[in-house]
Amino acid sequence: MSAVEAVRWSADGGAVDIIDQRLLPGKLERRDLRTVGDLCDAIATLAVRGAPAIGVAGAMGLVVALAPFATDRREPFLQRARELADRIASVRPTAVNLSWAVRRVVSTGMETAGDGAAILAAMRDEATRILDEDRAMCRRIGEHGLSLLADGARVLTHCNAGALATAGIGTALAPVYVAAERGRRVAVFADETRPLLQGSRLTAWELDQMGIDVTVLADSMAASLMRDGRIDLVIVGADRIAANGDVANKVGTYPLAVLAARHEVPFLVAAPLSTVDLRTPDGTSIPIEERRPEEVLGNAAPPGADALNIAFDVTPAELVTAVVTEAGVLGHPLDEAIARVAGGRFA
Ligand code: MRU
Repeated sequence: MSAVEAVRWSADGGAVDIIDQRLLPGKLERRDLRTVGDLCDAIATLAVRGAPAIGVAGAMGLVVALAPFATDRREPFLQRARELADRIASVRPTAVNLSWAVRRVVSTGMETAGDGAAILAAMRDEATRILDEDRAMCRRIGEHGLSLLADGARVLTHCNAGALATAGIGTALAPVYVAAERGRRVAVFADETRPLLQGSRLTAWELDQMGIDVTVLADSMAASLMRDGRIDLVIVGADRIAANGDVANKVGTYPLAVLAARHEVPFLVAAPLSTVDLRTPDGTSIPIEERRPEEVLGNAAPPGADALNIAFDVTPAELVTAVVTEAGVLGHPLDEAIARVAGGRFA
């Protein structure tokens, strides 16, 4: 189940083909990214967004940007690859998937013998592996998360951690899609997710495309719904999970976790191991992206007003009931569970 392909190779293989998410839900339009400028602009303006999707797009976009330099000798080619990778990784600092994916492509290049052309071919294969792995991990997250969704479950989610945020069927929404495939009835409440409305514009759009029951909520309604017993569980995605289990995700996630604890509603985080950052010991050292105040102000404040636009927040591990990964559902103590499944992988 995925009619939505947020990121893929273009038909000629020379570009990253994305759904331009800035235009949703009004218009479904695809765009080819053919230069590093195109790629960085698309990531910065959220044409492509969501931690796994920007990792995949970053890896593929690095290869596309390096293609004109295939005739370079080895060292200048690798030097350019490192510079472009740094430039791409710096566009969005919180989601570790972006720097993880471009580093992985550069490392493959450094381990490959030969000139620019040989290195570029190996890098393209690696970027394709990252794309394919992302699709597969979404499906596995969906399968592992299925046990947490009873028939008739009412799920609250924040931002968009669905197909639009990955190369596959999403992370937080993957169990919902798999449950629907198996004939279970699931109802999703989607926080609208101020200021850029990923919940109402994107989560509601993709669930509606898939025929899944979705209700959009103003962000501040979650408390009353939980108090009234109308939410069975919360599932969100993550942009970075620190070694101790602290979770950075779209701003507004932390208050949901506090509310869930207050009302004894399970609070689940669904994310691939590429979102786990063992080099970050805890949430205090996760870099948090701050964006333009205009995104918050819109046309709804007087010209003299300033605004804070902190794009992500950190939920402490103690408020997370479990983390659903492609390797299974991780419970407490989260630091030990994370070390067990993420310890040996590409860091
Ligand atoms: O700013 P965005 O829209 O890229 O933020 C996205 C989120 O916060 C998602 O929850 C997270 O990246 C996980 S996506 C599977």
